[in-house]
Amino acid sequence: MNQQKQTELILALDCEDRKLALELLEPLQGDLKWVKIGLQMFTAYGLPFVHEIKSMGYNIFLDLKLHDIPNTVAKAILSLSSASIDLLTIHASGGSEMCAFAVKARDESNPNLKLLAVTVLTSMNQQQMETLNVCKPVQDHVLDLAKLSVDAKVDGIVSSTHELKLLRDNLGNEPLIVTPGIRPKGADLNEQKRVMTPAEAKELGADYIVVGRPIYKSEDPLASVKAILKDIC
Ligand code: C5P
Repeated sequence: MNQQKQTELILALDCEDRKLALELLEPLQGDLKWVKIGLQMFTAYGLPFVHEIKSMGYNIFLDLKLHDIPNTVAKAILSLSSASIDLLTIHASGGSEMCAFAVKARDESNPNLKLLAVTVLTSMNQQQMETLNVCKPVQDHVLDLAKLSVDAKVDGIVSSTHELKLLRDNLGNEPLIVTPGIRPKGADLNEQKRVMTPAEAKELGADYIVVGRPIYKSEDPLASVKAILKDIC
């Protein structure tokens, strides 16, 4: 149970078009605090777009899932220092040295940035993991990668809702946990399979919930944001 920690809402900005994204964000200023920019928008519009969203007053979660040799990941983090981003993802499967290099680069360039490790992509199942010669249960692999990241001083983990309890039970309350796969009661699941409501994720210890389509596809995105914030207050 998560009685002390606050849970915050992050909007997944999975738009195709910069102008539409800005039109979506403008009326949400003041209520919504966090925006997640993923590979789609970052590869299309780059750091100038990140600066633009930051200058609107939003905190930035840059979801780039960095995975390369330690030196290259460290250099990429140094290159991002001008953007004043707040959360950034790396792949735990890059290994403990890569994670440690990322932490060191962060400490040198942007100490306020929190690094999050992605463990096993939810698009991978047991059978696909076995083709990579990972034969242990997926949940065990998730936990091993999460431990490796936390041991390397990465600040937190991106976790599916069904891993939340496993991670909190084994890692305690300190690591940040960021959870997508959230659907308010009655919302369209889209292709998400196992979802939780905002309140359920908060109860299991999520520090941040990531919500996309239930907000940006809604007829009234501001009302949707307000309803979710009420659910996690
Ligand atoms: O629209 P929806 O709320 O399903 O968007 C969820 C966001 O979280 C998307 O940006 C998606 O890429 C991301 N995500 C996810 N499941 C994961 C990891 C990330 O849905 N396991």
